[in-house]
Amino acid sequence: MEEQVVLTGGRVVDPSEGVDEIRDIGICNGQIVPPETLPNAKHVNMAGKVIVPGFIDVHVHLREPGQTHKEDIATGTAAAAAGGFTTVVSMPNTVPAMDTAERVVEFMELVAQKAKVRVLPAGAITIGRQGDVATNVKELVQAGCPVLSDDGSTPQKNGLMRSIMLAAAEAGVPVVDHCEDVSLSKPGVLHDGKIAKQLGLPGQPRSAEEVIVARDLILAKETGCHIHLQHLSSAGSVEMIRQAKRDGVNVTAEATPHHLFLTDEACVKFGTNAKMAPPLREENDRQALIEALTDGTIDMIATDHAPHTAEEKAQGWLKAPFGIVGIETVVPLCLTHLYHAGILDLNRLIALFTTGPAKLLASFCAKIGQPLGSLAMGSTGGVTVLDLEAEHTIDVRLFKSKSRNCPYDGMMCKGKVVGIY
Ligand code: DOR
Ligand code: ZN
Repeated sequence: MEEQVVLTGGRVVDPSEGVDEIRDIGICNGQIVPPETLPNAKHVNMAGKVIVPGFIDVHVHLREPGQTHKEDIATGTAAAAAGGFTTVVSMPNTVPAMDTAERVVEFMELVAQKAKVRVLPAGAITIGRQGDVATNVKELVQAGCPVLSDDGSTPQKNGLMRSIMLAAAEAGVPVVDHCEDVSLSKPGVLHDGKIAKQLGLPGQPRSAEEVIVARDLILAKETGCHIHLQHLSSAGSVEMIRQAKRDGVNVTAEATPHHLFLTDEACVKFGTNAKMAPPLREENDRQALIEALTDGTIDMIATDHAPHTAEEKAQGWLKAPFGIVGIETVVPLCLTHLYHAGILDLNRLIALFTTGPAKLLASFCAKIGQPLGSLAMGSTGGVTVLDLEAEHTIDVRLFKSKSRNCPYDGMMCKGKVVGIY
């Protein structure tokens, strides 16, 4: 049975095609088609709503296999759908890690049975994510990995990272990096500043991120590898990436909502629900990240949706795991604090969830012969529908995610996700 829908009368905003106008959108079995080719379609009135290409989150932890008490493929992708995302890239720090083609194939079989949105698997760059022995890049790419990463950590050995980037460049796949030099970050649990002192806790200096950002940019320049830098936290990192882009280095970068909207002051108020890697930093860092969204230094917003249980998060600052959930709150937060606050226009904000992340997936899209993050005819990237004006309060009890490790409970927002197609 063909599933045909026409979304009528909505404001269509598609940065990939430079579109911002009222028009109808036809969808046939998940593919964008001209509405006039669907005479028998169900019509859905979207007057007053904004219709955008299906959002992409390139940084999500689904926790399956191995940690399904925190999240699983079904709940993580239900959370993604509720948050407005039609495509997510799942991080490889599962148990066991996604370090062989066989494991990726098994994972994708589970995805085919359970996922509610498209899931693209990131393969690990080292065996067991241990940072000692490189994985087989070619095999992982053949098994369907559009990107490779050790997220949660990065190889500390620069020579190993260089050889991985050479192999990735040859295979035409980006390396996605979690920038953390553990000789500088450990045993820190939050940013090394006055809040860490006030709480009497060990801090992580900005340099823990920045030396790896510098390393990666140097190696990307030398190898030609596309390097993608995850969850940036420091003003210094942003400045290095800005310069590298001017120099023509093949680099893309992401920011998370927590680094955009919170500083280390949040650690006092929200406790371990403000503990993440890299840590929340200071106001000048936050401002630098926002500036980088406006000038294109940062290409995309990604959530680093990192579910952990209440019991795990209750173990105190030294023991609680790093990370917070984010996929169900990022769009309302960004509509409130970037769009309604007058920092970004709607087209730029939508680009950060569509054409921006699509840059990371460009070689994958070329391979499948279809765009993502676009409402172009033939696209199978789905559709997201927004209500820009709806006022509401974040309520973690309503989350589809299994975990509630979120500092935004009770926060007022203006603008929300109506749904996805
Ligand atoms: O805060 C984080 N949590 N940062 C990471 O890099 C990993 C993630 C996790 O897996 O919990
Ligand atoms: Zn990470």
